[in-house]
Amino acid sequence: REAEHSLQIQNLVDLFPIFADLDHQAREDLLMLFRPRSATPGQRVIRKGDRPDAAYFISKGTVQVSVGDRLIPLGPGDFFGEMALLSGARRSADVTATDYCQFLTLDQREFRSFVARNPRLREQLDALAAQRSAMNRDR
Ligand code: CMP
Repeated sequence: REAEHSLQIQNLVDLFPIFADLDHQAREDLLMLFRPRSATPGQRVIRKGDRPDAAYFISKGTVQVSVGDRLIPLGPGDFFGEMALLSGARRSADVTATDYCQFLTLDQREFRSFVARNPRLREQLDALAAQRSAMNRDR
């Protein structure tokens, strides 16, 4: 059991580089907080303009983020839905499954408090969100 559990923690970090700097306790906390969700090909997972509910970490499958006429593919190890949670804004883009997908999700409240407890993670997420919104400004 113990070995199985630490393997899960290792898998988490191997799959999601964003969690590489978290300490062991924070990784254990994450495993407890994650809720699995899935989507089928063509399913819209996030609709632009909606109020946010959760952040999504992709463990299987691919999605497309639509920004203007541009489609940005994301796959295993990527995540989405973090921007509205960080900023308090509405969803900035549509996100559609292009495949059978499995996600690990953190609901808004858990995401906010986890990020507040892990300032280094907060910095990394803020930096990526800044890049993503800069990319979207000229669209
Ligand atoms: P959010 O605004 O909550 O919901 C839509 C999500 O799409 C957003 O969070 C990001 O996770 C993602 N997203 C928006 N723009 C980009 C981009 N340029 N590149 C990658 N992902 C993006």
